[in-house]
Amino acid sequence: MRTQDELKQQAAQAALDIVLPQLQPESILGVGTGSTVDRFIDLLAAHREAFRAAVSSSERSTQRLQAAGIQVLDLNEVSSLTLYVDGADELDHQLNMIKGGGGALTREKIVASVADRFVCIVDESKLVQQLGRFALPIEVIPLAREAVAREVRQLGGRPVLRAGFTTDNGNQILDVSGLQYDDPAEFEAMLNNIPGVVCCGLFAISGAHLALVAGQDGMSLLELQES
Ligand code: A5P
Repeated sequence: MRTQDELKQQAAQAALDIVLPQLQPESILGVGTGSTVDRFIDLLAAHREAFRAAVSSSERSTQRLQAAGIQVLDLNEVSSLTLYVDGADELDHQLNMIKGGGGALTREKIVASVADRFVCIVDESKLVQQLGRFALPIEVIPLAREAVAREVRQLGGRPVLRAGFTTDNGNQILDVSGLQYDDPAEFEAMLNNIPGVVCCGLFAISGAHLALVAGQDGMSLLELQES
């Protein structure tokens, strides 16, 4: 029986195996945030000569990338990214995700939006039939926290302020349980429309293109079927 940490390591290795052949000396790679991505960064360190630089989704990942000798560019200096690699807190079989357990959801969504392809790396505990077990992180402007919380309660949610936490953008996070995601993309758009919401951790309007899921029986690959 492999531990969750060992499965995260396997997912990171699988991502490296997929990403490396696609990197050119001029390539810039989008890098997410979290303990699974930390392992990916550590593996990437030995291949830093294979690509030009990375764009990071958090201060935490930036520090780890730089410590690994990988150059980190500001997103404003970059017009496109071939790939974006990141973990998730929940992933469904349509490759919709809940993200933001580490609080980096806004930068993650922005950096992912610039990449041609999003490669999601998770251990099998994250794969669900229906999103919703993990409380949805919503980044809010501090001034709007209670106003957003009231709106979210109208939608059936139970918001809880992530105490003592400030995002890299200087905002706060509400973790919202009790939500139903019958149409995740529609629900994401509705949350985006609440004044004061900076970003929600639902990644459904634009989800992952490819997911590498590490399980006790080996790696599974889920790929978005483009219609
Ligand atoms: C960070 O804000 C999150 O979106 C992470 O991608 C997510 O929490 C997965 O983290 P782990 O790899 O640590 O499980």
